Amino acid sequence: MCGIIGFTGSDDPFGALLDGLTLLEYRGYDSAGVALVNPSESGGIWRSRAAVRAQSIPELKAAADPPAARAGIGHTRWATHGAPTEKNAHPHLDCRGEVAVVHNGIIENYRELSASLVAGGHTLSSQTDTEVVAHLVEEELAGGAGLFEAVQRCSRRLRGDFALAIVSAGEPDLIVATRQTSPLIVGRAEGLGVVASDISALLETTRELYALEDGQVAAVGPGSVEVVDRDGQPLEPTPIRVSWGVQAARREGYEDFMSKEIHEQPRALADTLIGRVHDGLTEFEELALSDEELASIERVVVIACGSSYHAGYIGAASLEQWARIPAHAEIASEFRYRSPVLDGSTLVVAISQSGETVDTYHALREARRRGGRTLVITNVVDSLMAREADGVLYTRAGPEIGVASTKCHVAQILLVQLFALHLARIRRALPPEEAARLAGAIEALPGLVEEALGKAERYEKVAEELSGVNDVFFLGRNIGYPIALEGALKLKELAYVRAEAYAAGEMKHGPISLIDRHSVAVVVATRGPLWPKLLANIEELRARGATVVAVTDEGDAETAGLVELVLEVPPTEELLTPVVAVVPLQLLAYAVARERGNDVDRPRNLAKVVTVE
Ligand code: G6P
Repeated sequence: MCGIIGFTGSDDPFGALLDGLTLLEYRGYDSAGVALVNPSESGGIWRSRAAVRAQSIPELKAAADPPAARAGIGHTRWATHGAPTEKNAHPHLDCRGEVAVVHNGIIENYRELSASLVAGGHTLSSQTDTEVVAHLVEEELAGGAGLFEAVQRCSRRLRGDFALAIVSAGEPDLIVATRQTSPLIVGRAEGLGVVASDISALLETTRELYALEDGQVAAVGPGSVEVVDRDGQPLEPTPIRVSWGVQAARREGYEDFMSKEIHEQPRALADTLIGRVHDGLTEFEELALSDEELASIERVVVIACGSSYHAGYIGAASLEQWARIPAHAEIASEFRYRSPVLDGSTLVVAISQSGETVDTYHALREARRRGGRTLVITNVVDSLMAREADGVLYTRAGPEIGVASTKCHVAQILLVQLFALHLARIRRALPPEEAARLAGAIEALPGLVEEALGKAERYEKVAEELSGVNDVFFLGRNIGYPIALEGALKLKELAYVRAEAYAAGEMKHGPISLIDRHSVAVVVATRGPLWPKLLANIEELRARGATVVAVTDEGDAETAGLVELVLEVPPTEELLTPVVAVVPLQLLAYAVARERGNDVDRPRNLAKVVTVE
């Protein structure tokens, strides 16, 4: 949530900042802004900001006439404190226009700090929590400190979650960065220093990158990085392993990241499988939790948010069914605050594409604090959560830029299901031949998803029929229910269509009163053991006039004969259906969103990485 970028030692910091912001825009696109350090400007800082939803970067490019400079910082914002206006756009300046600050996160004690700054004669010109930092630094500089020391002192006064990059006119080559919870990366190359909120913005610049740890402060100069703790004690920075290629964060001929990422799903699944199934047996070389430790686990709680929660729900169901271990999934933001009972026999599995969603991160820390064992499933190597847990398993989907998760979602499902099989083997909960058969079925998933993608045109035709709808129910039973949850979420977030998911059996307990001839229901009706019950639910809907769209197994004429529209998918093992059946639902939401002229990569009000509560 919010993107931060900074360059020092660059011949064209303005161009570099705008390129970086374009790559970071998926983190927030309410406004964007840059500040360049230019001693010939009055105050020494040149600033340009724009607040045109999802269009601020082109606006900056068109409007700006940047002065020559060697260093600067930039920001793309997802508004929390203060409306998404130009006045509230970052960077924020101090009273004299000599200090510029960009920030990600929330400074919780900003009201208190702001009151004392105003009492001390400062004028604050925005409604943000960020601006106080510029004025606090101003005070420290006025007291004789250099920027590095000033930021160390100020950060001791800040409470909350934050990542900050700060420049000062007095030290035109220096960027000072610090963080608490919200991640921040610093790095260097020959004659260049960089700061960013995540790797994707820096892939083309350098591979010599370091993750700042909580409370660390970095002085980034052209070609140099120096890190200290808040008390000024020097520290060795933690290098980051970078596995993604430069082209991975580019659209590569697709109209948008979302369609690129949907079509990359077979590869994301295949890469996530590499080296993890041998002769029908699961293998997790990198898993720091030993078989003995895993054998002592008596319960699993999966925590996550959004699409990752739906993957977690599927994971919990698979853990129960295959490993015969009590397991359930919880929304991370709820888990943290409801005083969960945990001990060393509980394994808490946190699933997060980004590895930095603050709700999941804090829930994970809470789980550790209460004595639970922890495992993280994430797509980002060395991310915050990866560094926090007892064990980590990586999906290998490559960077996901589209705000709505697609390839990472399916890779998460596959990986948590492989882990469920792994636990089943350790607990001897499945006959070996059954475990091997299931592992084989998992290995077939990339091919099945490829087949499903081959039907994209047919799914688009169904979407055309639905382009005018404003209210859709998504229904499923058992493993079909989380598929319905994900289908509804995709339609909501991309097409802005009210979409509700229900366990199909629950309709009769209330929601069915909403069904009339204007209703549309998408029913996940693949041929699992509960298929006959789903047919009965479909009949109930049709009897009340609803238009029914069914996700069916290929060639299932019986279900097709009952409904108006069909989304056929290649059949698989019941518990493995989600990875395949979600494909038409992704494409449905995508096509309806495009039909309505929505920006599929940057849906309104959303951000890819949510670093606030
Ligand atoms: C945001 C994104 C969702 C994502 C959720 C969890 O809301 O828009 O697509 O599922 O965060 O993100 P995580 O990185 O923790 O998987």
